[in-house]
Amino acid sequence: MNKNPIGIFDSGIGGLTVVKAVKKILPNEDIIYLGDTARLPYGTKSTDAIIQFSIEDTQFLVDRGAKYIVIACYSSASVALDIIRKKFSVPVIGVIEPGVRRALQLTKAGKIGVIGTSLTIFSGAYERAFKELGAQFEILGKACPLFVPLVEEGWFDHNATKLIAQDYLQPLKKDNVHTLLLGCTHYPLMMKIIREIMGDINYVDASTEVGVELAQSLDKLDMKNPSGAGDIGIYLTDLSMNFKEIGERFLGEPMKNFSRVSLKSTESAR
Ligand code: DGL
Repeated sequence: MNKNPIGIFDSGIGGLTVVKAVKKILPNEDIIYLGDTARLPYGTKSTDAIIQFSIEDTQFLVDRGAKYIVIACYSSASVALDIIRKKFSVPVIGVIEPGVRRALQLTKAGKIGVIGTSLTIFSGAYERAFKELGAQFEILGKACPLFVPLVEEGWFDHNATKLIAQDYLQPLKKDNVHTLLLGCTHYPLMMKIIREIMGDINYVDASTEVGVELAQSLDKLDMKNPSGAGDIGIYLTDLSMNFKEIGERFLGEPMKNFSRVSLKSTESAR
């Protein structure tokens, strides 16, 4: 079992930011990654649909021997983490709690801002996670749905992106948030613009925290692979336009080992 891969899934290729962080912290672990590019985006769809998709994504990885599941998609983790934990016998980690724990370490006073997709913000998952950890801070959530297509378009530094970001972030800035949680796979790539608007506050990108907590959990469960080659196998439900170029932006290295796969409900009509 220890030599089996870690399974990581996301709605698309944005979750490769989490793969990158996990690989850095756990270089001996092999990783299989599923990006459900055929059904992207998840962040604008209903809770029921995303729970169903997330179960199918997990099943795909478990069927390929994943010893541990990482839900790299914030929208999925917001609505499906508990259900997936109950449904599957492998251990599961999501991206919400590790970021919340880090935000609490960094915040001494003031308010905490959370930005994410519409589904993530309206699910209330962050408020619940902060409450469970006994946080006393005011939590301000803001959905920023246009950030995902802007990042996929590569418009990190575009004037239109600046205007949109200003519109989304101004209320958080006015409210003097002390810490800002980036609650979406795509947002770390927009850090320059976000920082220009929000200034010198604390920022939390949960991908590193997930890697750290995953390493601790593997140790505790005695599930570490001491001698893996660190291979990354990438499965995508659609080889969408520019997927390689966009994927490499997230992964930070060439995407070598990738293939198109079908889940039950993404099977090609051809
Ligand atoms: N991966 C999604 C998330 O982190 C963003 C893209 C989407 O909406 O599917 O919420």
